Amino acid sequence: MSRTVNRRQFLTAAGIGAVAAGTVTGCDSLFTPKGPVSGATGTVMSSAVELPPRFDAELPKVPVLEPVRSAGGVDHYEVTQRAADAQILPGFTTQIWGYNGIFPGPTIEARSGRQIEVTIHNELPVPTSTHLHGGVNPHDSDGYPTDLIVPDGYDKRVDAAMLSMHARQAAGTGNGPQQGRVPQKPDPQVWSLHPDSRTYRYPLEQRAAPLWYHDHRMDFSGPQLWRGLVGSAFVRDEEEDFLDLAAGDKELSLLICDRSFDADGQLQYPSKDPQLHDPGGVKSAYMDGVLGDVLLVNGAPWPVKRVANTKYRLRLLNASNARVYQLTFRAGNRELPITQIGSDGGLLVAPQRLPSIPMSPAERFDVVVDFSALPVGTEVVVANSVGSGPAGQVMKFVVDRAETDTTTIPDRLCRSYRRLDRKDAVGVRTFDFRLSTGDIWTVNGEPFDPRESLATPKLGTVELWRFTSDFNHPVHTHLAHFQVHSRDGGKPNRHDAGWKDTVNVTPYGVVEVLVEFTGFRGKYLVHCHNLEHEDMAMMANFTVV
Ligand code: C2O
Ligand code: CU
Repeated sequence: MSRTVNRRQFLTAAGIGAVAAGTVTGCDSLFTPKGPVSGATGTVMSSAVELPPRFDAELPKVPVLEPVRSAGGVDHYEVTQRAADAQILPGFTTQIWGYNGIFPGPTIEARSGRQIEVTIHNELPVPTSTHLHGGVNPHDSDGYPTDLIVPDGYDKRVDAAMLSMHARQAAGTGNGPQQGRVPQKPDPQVWSLHPDSRTYRYPLEQRAAPLWYHDHRMDFSGPQLWRGLVGSAFVRDEEEDFLDLAAGDKELSLLICDRSFDADGQLQYPSKDPQLHDPGGVKSAYMDGVLGDVLLVNGAPWPVKRVANTKYRLRLLNASNARVYQLTFRAGNRELPITQIGSDGGLLVAPQRLPSIPMSPAERFDVVVDFSALPVGTEVVVANSVGSGPAGQVMKFVVDRAETDTTTIPDRLCRSYRRLDRKDAVGVRTFDFRLSTGDIWTVNGEPFDPRESLATPKLGTVELWRFTSDFNHPVHTHLAHFQVHSRDGGKPNRHDAGWKDTVNVTPYGVVEVLVEFTGFRGKYLVHCHNLEHEDMAMMANFTVV
């Protein structure tokens, strides 16, 4: 099987969008019977530069984004996406693309029920779309992949070539006379293009939760996040305020991702087109996913954080393209207990002890780690038991002072939590995540087509969605949050607890989730959050009606 056919050639040759839509589900002939069964989630792109020393850099504190104005109960923010220089590796200056020129971007601190507006100015050389991951937002503020901010001076001819895919699809099988014809203008059914800037409106009628924001440009999210277009966002509410959890400088936001650097200390990524014009996707050797060999927390390699001997609340986010982590906290040969208090969608009903934290791309874990039993001077390494070599460690804490701890972990965290029941589900749908003929990552045998919807759930209902797969696929739903109902025919794993928006489906695994459709009608995505899979077509629409 050749790995050289790219997605557009495939779309053109197979005419999938026009011919097979709606008929492919369950049709095995489109599926590749073989598939990787190992725990691998990608291929390491080794850095050419000497790796920096571990536990040298201080853990950066990411600045909080300040509103430029507040009026009528709405806070307004301005953000500029631009290229900037960053100090990531000692002795090198690395060019990044950042929200406000920093990587990670500034942290958004928001209140449940208080609307915010974010105007994003795009000064990058490529189109962008910003998605607030975990947000319950109207479709036109969801950062849909073809709803783009096109920067001033972006080469419209390159753009037109990029847009031709859908013109070919619209023309039929793509094998006719239309093939290769560059359209005069982008199909408005598919593309929504905003020159230079636009404003996203986030109602935030949702419970306290750790969200994050990142680029979502169709076919190019992988390289655009890799260059730095990621940031954290926290929604807070009274229910959370009321708890006596570690807060202030004892609450740490830890955005974890892996990157690879060239000999000059610049970020390197195996794009098919390094200019990010056309085509999207990565070189075939990396199509399972791109892994870096430098682990960054808040943008610093293997940092160190000095802490008091108290409890700390850690807001963990796996912002990596494809890397999966399994985190433990090790003091010498002893492992510290980890107490999980929240997941992607906010607080759990009750805290639970976890032996380790398995995190696939886009998942968040809200945990409390207690350093109080440790003498001053103790070092605690955050290890990654599924990473080899340098990827086996993430960061280090050093207990450097004694303080009195007044915080608690209450037995009951969240009174408003509603546990969904199988009986609540009004329907069952299956989404199969699989490598298909032509080496395209597909959902139900189909590469992403922005005009097609695989499902039309009704607003206000709950459905049971069954995710099946041939590989590790972290499946994410926009808008709708879910609770994991079963895994591989049995009970969910303990770390599947709570409201979630991303769940890892393991090779040949089956995960059933109860998804609740609240908030808005319209077109949203269900997709794999391994960004290389996502960019190589593993996305589908559902339309809430
Ligand atoms: Cu975190 Cu569709 O994305
Ligand atoms: Cu995937």
